[in-house]
Amino acid sequence: RQRIFSGMQPTSDSLHLGNYLGALVNWVALQEEYDAFYGVVDLHALTVQTEPAVLRERSRRTAAQYLAGGVDPARSTLMLQSMVPEHTELSWLLACHTAFGEANRMTQFKDKIAKGQSANVGLFTYPILMAADILLYDADLVPVGEDQRQHLELTRDLAERVNGRFPGTFVVPDAYIVKGSAKIMDLQDPTAKMSKSLSSDLGLIDLLDDPKRITKKIKSAVTDPEREIRYDVDAKPGVSNLLVIHSTLSATPIAELERAFEGKGYGDLKGEVAEVVVAALEPFQSRMAELMADPAELDRIITAGSDKAREVASVVLGRLHDALGLLPRV
Ligand code: TYM
Repeated sequence: RQRIFSGMQPTSDSLHLGNYLGALVNWVALQEEYDAFYGVVDLHALTVQTEPAVLRERSRRTAAQYLAGGVDPARSTLMLQSMVPEHTELSWLLACHTAFGEANRMTQFKDKIAKGQSANVGLFTYPILMAADILLYDADLVPVGEDQRQHLELTRDLAERVNGRFPGTFVVPDAYIVKGSAKIMDLQDPTAKMSKSLSSDLGLIDLLDDPKRITKKIKSAVTDPEREIRYDVDAKPGVSNLLVIHSTLSATPIAELERAFEGKGYGDLKGEVAEVVVAALEPFQSRMAELMADPAELDRIITAGSDKAREVASVVLGRLHDALGLLPRV
């Protein structure tokens, strides 16, 4: 079976609707066919300083949300990045194959700096650690949202460069980015992506928001002065975003939604989108509550998955280790 790796940062108590529709929904679908590894990338989250107790809680909650969303630990490997030290080691080996200018071209880093995030070197080398996450599992496919595309390109470049020196070291992965849902937009500013760090409270739907808040946020979503409900990202970004959210969650093609809403108003669309989101998140939220009631079981799943991940990661790392001329243990 082909392999998958993907991950999310534990930077908040709740994932948001963009994480869900852009990534988690696809993770769950793909685990049927692929040998999937899904990581809580806690080392990446250290690029922003967080209270230790808060980080611990968020790592558990992020893992729990993978499970609540449908990741099945019997089928997929759920791992915690910091429990598999091979990630940091490979990150160094890859850093020594990364040109400074190449790392310096990463737009997400520049965006974060431009928005005032303080720049530690970890934030700068973050895409190299991400490449290590992926390459360590011989991943063929990486299901992510549109915002990760450039990081995936870097990962491929690094894999090809290392393979050029030492053929057969890495599998060169492909990004798996689903058109439409790969970029869920901020409800208040539908030309910007929904983002934990940049969206306003009203602009972002947390998966753990209660139904009233979800409804309020969707009803206040920014649209446009027209009346027509049709998908047109450039002319009607707000309405298009609502159609994408509806379509992805209700598994209804956008063209069919356009037909169903003919002659209806934005209020009707918002009301129905709110219903669809609330209905989809209800079972998610109740599963989340059950999972969080048993943190010991959660820790057990994370540890078992990380141990399993380490078995794969150590073999792949070993290939490069030897190729580079680092001495073997005897
Ligand atoms: P992170 O934690 O910011 O986001 C997790 C996933 O959610 C997707 N996403 C979105 N999709 C659609 N619309 C949005 N508005 C939206 N916002 C976020 C992201 O594309 C991502 O798939 N660097 C990564 C984490 C990472 C990783 C990896 C991912 C570390 N190592 C290895 C894949 C493979 C990140 O910060 O994602």
